Amino acid sequence: MAIVSKKSQQQDDRIIASSSTEDKDANEFSLRPKSMSEYIGQSEVKKNLSVFIEAAKKRGDPLEHVLFHGPPGLGKTTLANILSKEMNVNIKTTAGPALEKQGDLAAILTNLKPNDILFIDEIHRLKAPVEEILYSAMEDFCLDIVIGKGPAARSMRLSLPKFTLVGATTKLSMLSSPLRDRFGNLIKLEFYKEDEIEQILERSSAIFGLTINDDACVRLAQSSRRTPRIANRLLKRVRDFATVYGDSDTINSAIVEQALAALGVDQLGLDNTDRQILHTIADKFRGGPVGLNTIAAATNEEQNTVEDIYEPYLLQLGFLERTPRGRVVTDRAYKHLGLVAPSQQTMLIAENQ
Ligand SMILES: Nc1ncnc2c1ncn2[C@@H]1O[C@H](COP(=O)(O)OP(=O)(O)OP(=O)(O)O)[C@@H](O)[C@H]1O
Ligand SMILES: [Mg+2]
Repeated sequence: MAIVSKKSQQQDDRIIASSSTEDKDANEFSLRPKSMSEYIGQSEVKKNLSVFIEAAKKRGDPLEHVLFHGPPGLGKTTLANILSKEMNVNIKTTAGPALEKQGDLAAILTNLKPNDILFIDEIHRLKAPVEEILYSAMEDFCLDIVIGKGPAARSMRLSLPKFTLVGATTKLSMLSSPLRDRFGNLIKLEFYKEDEIEQILERSSAIFGLTINDDACVRLAQSSRRTPRIANRLLKRVRDFATVYGDSDTINSAIVEQALAALGVDQLGLDNTDRQILHTIADKFRGGPVGLNTIAAATNEEQNTVEDIYEPYLLQLGFLERTPRGRVVTDRAYKHLGLVAPSQQTMLIAENQ
């Protein structure tokens, strides 16, 4: 337990962490878009959701169950809340690890009103017995529960109001197929385009009452790992630097450079741990393949952290590749680290001979 809390503390401390602990931050709350029109980017997702919303409204039905999946900080929780606003219904929010017993979920389900949204974050972390009662709840809107134990046990079927389950997960592969199949809409959130991150930074700056210069905005967007949560977090840190060293109302590129350098975040948004992961594979293992457990041990991180937090963006950048035998760094990563890739070394040796 101590290890877990130490780890999450480390994640909190990490400037480019995209973990959702940030949600506790009141500022983050105020930055969260409240409607579909405020929600920047993910245009395909928004288009499809708008159709589903309008159709459900026209028919007077609840929205079909929706599952959002994708890396942390891309806007899954935000979209779940927007759905409830756009549908004009209540949203009850819980998370997979919070539902310990079947009774916990049963209590929530029986208290829902017609068309309400039940949002289960980290739905991949539901315990199997809890998950099982979701099946009939999602499919038939009823709850099968067993009362009592042993020979006196009897099963009861309660009917539930028609509701919408909205699930969010960073790990689609960990969802059992019976659960996954019961969602009418599976929606994948992708990393944002850089110009969308710029728009998010401009919106957040306006909310903070800051002026952000264009070149500062572009530079900050480059280091935001195409993730809104990281963009907002970096903006807050840069604001701190502006307050102390510059003009507290204006974000210019000089203050952005100063802040990013102090935070150890490079042009592509990589921090020390990202670089350490790449260096470990490149230097100690001659480019790989290296198993995830070895990378975790060498960088003093947990396997899950490496897999969920660091890898997705490194894969997305094309710096890392997953092969059946382990992780491999690419020529691009060597270039970014300022190293000569093994393939280039062979060429150089051949040329010199
Ligand atoms: N499309 C967007 N436009 C503007 N801001 C956004 C957008 N998406 C997300 N954000 C900002 O990023 C923050 C993180 O988003 P959110 O909490 O919804 O991510 P998440 O996908 O649920 O992450 P996690 O998997 O960690 O729970 C939000 O509080 C919001 O400020
Ligand atoms: Mg979330």
